[in-house]
Amino acid sequence: MQLVFLGAPGVGKGTQADKVVAQYGIRKISTGDLLREAVRNQTKLGLEAKGYMDQGQLVPDSVVIGLVHNGLSEPSCRSGFILDGFPRTVRQAEELERVLNDKMLRLDRVINFQISREDVVKRLSGRRSCPKCQAIYHVEFAPSPRGALCDRCGESLVQRNDDRREAIETRLKIYEDQTAPLISFYEKKNMLSHLDSAGTVEAVYQGLAQVLAAYDKA
Ligand code: AP5
Repeated sequence: MQLVFLGAPGVGKGTQADKVVAQYGIRKISTGDLLREAVRNQTKLGLEAKGYMDQGQLVPDSVVIGLVHNGLSEPSCRSGFILDGFPRTVRQAEELERVLNDKMLRLDRVINFQISREDVVKRLSGRRSCPKCQAIYHVEFAPSPRGALCDRCGESLVQRNDDRREAIETRLKIYEDQTAPLISFYEKKNMLSHLDSAGTVEAVYQGLAQVLAAYDKA
């Protein structure tokens, strides 16, 4: 399966992508995760990206396109992949088509995750993550059994800088202006499936699995 997960920040793309990876064994390429890793490692790219990310702005197209190009060059992508959080602009979508053509790969489906703006704000403002093993929690919907500590590795959980109120507003505005146009971009290509993502993690996954069943060639 070769998939793109599209949707507003905090809609649950990463959570569902991890479940698909666990079930189908395909590769996840999350530009957000790759950028956060670069920030943690204080690479040149990470230092450049940090300022944009903390404010909720998009990192320049050239930077993220390079990351995705590298990711898709991994041989493991031949067995399937999920692009999580990419593309986010029409230019990125056009570049993606070019890169996929070059590598003789193609997309099966673009899944558009949908919830209300109010739910997005609740999910983002309550998200906590582990800076060591990257596990994701939510203070209300998916709390760590160990409170403020990661259940997997015991590290103290943190709130992402871009999950603070001001950055959330910026991210939602950028999503409306620059990412939402991709819905009609992929609709016109007859590649889009809308997914109601308002339910529990398990309920959303059931809906997703139904869509994916048509593309599972295993
Ligand atoms: P990125 O990490 O991609 O952020 P995002 O798209 O804003 O998505 P999120 O990771 O915030 O949310 P998600 O949809 O994955 O939700 P999650 O599963 O975590 O990007 C971060 C930044 O990097 C960008 O702002 C930009 O600066 C830069 N960047 C990345 N890609 C870029 C690109 N292509 N171009 C330019 N810049 C780029 O869930 C959220 C919370 O909700 C969690 O707490 C979770 O536990 C909870 N939750 C999930 N599902 C449910 C459910 N069903 N019910 C209740 N709670 C739930």
